[in-house]
Amino acid sequence: MGRLAIFQWAVSILFLGFPAVAQDVDAHLVYEQNCAGCHAPHAGEFVVENVSISDGELVGKGSQQSVSDLLVSGHGKLSESEIKLLLRHFWAIQESGNLFRERCIYCHDRAVVFARRELIIRDGILFGRYSDRNAEEFLPGHGRLDSAQAEMMVDVLKRQLITP
Ligand code: HEC
Ligand code: HEC
Repeated sequence: MGRLAIFQWAVSILFLGFPAVAQDVDAHLVYEQNCAGCHAPHAGEFVVENVSISDGELVGKGSQQSVSDLLVSGHGKLSESEIKLLLRHFWAIQESGNLFRERCIYCHDRAVVFARRELIIRDGILFGRYSDRNAEEFLPGHGRLDSAQAEMMVDVLKRQLITP
């Protein structure tokens, strides 16, 4: 990390709330260390490809089995707190994906297509590739996003660019 990146990171911890950031990072790590060996390299992709919602619960798309039951039964060998963290993360991914389909796809195409065609990450920040606009500042209010949804959406769009 460059000095500026470290500074921005410190500022984000001070002002945006450390727990949320740490939780997200932790969930990524839990996935990458315990699941990526056998499944997709990143949780975002894994959830899009393999997990859906049925009767208000996360289920495997193939088996229709509850993801929570599967993990509690020992699949992936997670502790109870890691399971909680990962399930919360899977939900956030599902919800933001749905939000994009409901509110954004109409004007912007699929998230992966839109992000790769129009957006770019510079110094860890999401920008319009051609507009040179700071998308993280632009998004709150755009497409009727509140600030929490905008934050989630930034995450979704960045993931499309980071994931190979
Ligand atoms: C040693 C390899 C291995 C590891 C590690 C592993 N899995 Fe699996 N997983 C499998 C196999 C094999 C299947 C069954 C075949 C399939 O559906 O892909 C499966 C199935 C699943 C399913 C059901 C998919 C469906 O379509 O029904 C979920 C959900 C799942 N795994 C989540 C996880 C999570 C989360 C982790 C990490 C905590 C994890 N797995 C770790 C091998 C693994
Ligand atoms: C009614 C159509 C419409 C909807 C719905 C919409 N957008 Fe947009 N969006 C636009 C237009 C038009 C622009 C370009 C605005 C400009 O250049 O001033 C834009 C710009 C953007 C940009 C900046 C792109 C750049 O190059 O700077 C992002 C990021 C973005 N939208 C994301 C979203 C997301 C996420 C949603 C869903 C919550 C959404 N948009 C919903 C029409 C829409």
